[in-house]
Amino acid sequence: MTVLLAANWKMNLTAAEAQHLADAYRQLADEYQAHNVSFIVCPPALYGAALQQASEGSALNWGGQASHPAEFGAHTGDISAKMLQSGGASFVIAGHSERRQNHGESDEQVAAQIQAAHNAGLTVILCVGEGLADRKAGQAENIVTTQLSAALHNITKWESVIIAYEPIWAIGTGEVASPEDIQAMHAKMAEHLTSQCGAAFVPPLLYGGSVNAGNAAEILALPDVNGALIGGASLKIDEMRAIAAHAKAIQSR
Ligand code: 13P
Repeated sequence: MTVLLAANWKMNLTAAEAQHLADAYRQLADEYQAHNVSFIVCPPALYGAALQQASEGSALNWGGQASHPAEFGAHTGDISAKMLQSGGASFVIAGHSERRQNHGESDEQVAAQIQAAHNAGLTVILCVGEGLADRKAGQAENIVTTQLSAALHNITKWESVIIAYEPIWAIGTGEVASPEDIQAMHAKMAEHLTSQCGAAFVPPLLYGGSVNAGNAAEILALPDVNGALIGGASLKIDEMRAIAAHAKAIQSR
């Protein structure tokens, strides 16, 4: 099965840096295509054209970091799934904890974004994850399964869903969830999604939160982990190259 490496560049890079990095990702994606490692880059919206150029005729894929549920309209500063699709994107992130926190996005809004993204023909990377207080209170699984149920309750295009488990306390902190905790949560999500989809198909499950070249081998080898959503380390092509090498090694076992 393919290992998915999704890069979330967040609000980083100048235009020139983004162009340069996009070209480096293109090479990496083409090199690793034969090894069942695939790449999705989610740049700041402004750099979508650079990604589109880099991904043309390549195995590289790209997507948005967020999208508004409407197609067009008076929504200053927003971008829609329709716009992303028209610019060549195939993916979009929904429900990232930074959007939930900084922009007050609710589960209901995330659900509406997913519907709009599916209507536009995009595959959604839905982010879920608990805060530190929830984990300490033993509520992590509850929070995550509630987020899954709420965001996906109207879904019919299950083949266009990817889930990223991103515990909030592990994002950008250098603190990684333990392999045991990651595997336990992914197994729980797989069980929950199997019953929610009503089918044998379970969306790919990515882990996100301080993934880097040093910890990727252990995380990607976990049985219910199908890839990673990577923030900080995704800005460095050498880190991504090393992570990809680990993903390849797992494939050939
Ligand atoms: P870091 O890899 O920087 O912790 O970010 C994870 C993330 O939020 C990806 O969406």
